[in-house]
Amino acid sequence: MTALNEILTSRHSIRRFTDRAPTREELEQLFDAAVLAPNHRLTNPWRFYVLGPEGRAAYGLALGNRKAKKATDEAQAEEMRKTTSDQHRAWPCMVLVAMTQNENLEIREEDYAATMMATQNLCLKAVELGLGTHIRSGAIMGDPAARAAGGVAENERIVAVLTIGTPAEVPEAKPRTPARELTHWIP
Ligand SMILES: Cc1cc2nc3c(=O)[nH]c(=O)nc-3n(C[C@H](O)[C@H](O)[C@H](O)COP(=O)(O)O)c2cc1C
Repeated sequence: MTALNEILTSRHSIRRFTDRAPTREELEQLFDAAVLAPNHRLTNPWRFYVLGPEGRAAYGLALGNRKAKKATDEAQAEEMRKTTSDQHRAWPCMVLVAMTQNENLEIREEDYAATMMATQNLCLKAVELGLGTHIRSGAIMGDPAARAAGGVAENERIVAVLTIGTPAEVPEAKPRTPARELTHWIP
């Protein structure tokens, strides 16, 4: 088993993947790792939507439609829609991470935190399996067409959009401010 620190330092947001799609077994291992995240009240707030090529293209079209609002003419708008949709269809795998929305806002906030911790578990497990991930977010996550593309249930909120695959290129590590500069030791 790979040492944790090696996994932590090897995780980078992967933007270029090979054509090989992760297998269902690999994805199930990622989701199994995700649900081990800490979870106050054991609400199991996380949901995972695995999009096939049609779902990815529909999600990409939803994103393309938003980008196309900045186009100067209809031909450019259509090009933006097509390019974004095709780009998404071509990803080896896309997963929408969603969470249930508890009526109690305190629980809802805890559930958001837990779901993001689950997302990190998933990304780290991917490294162990030789896979790479990239988390994306943004207003698109609340777009009805994007939600419909993933079949996301009504009372759920998409909190992360993941692309997953075998890295074709691993970027340089992005520098972080050393923790010691951000740590307060209170006597
Ligand atoms: C909650 C969250 C949302 C993110 N959203 C985006 C995004 O919309 N687009 C993007 O290119 N990267 C997104 N990222 C990836 C970050 O840009 C990336 O983690 C950061 O540049 C550090 O690089 P690294 O992951 O390779 O260490 C997101 C990361 C997190 C944690």
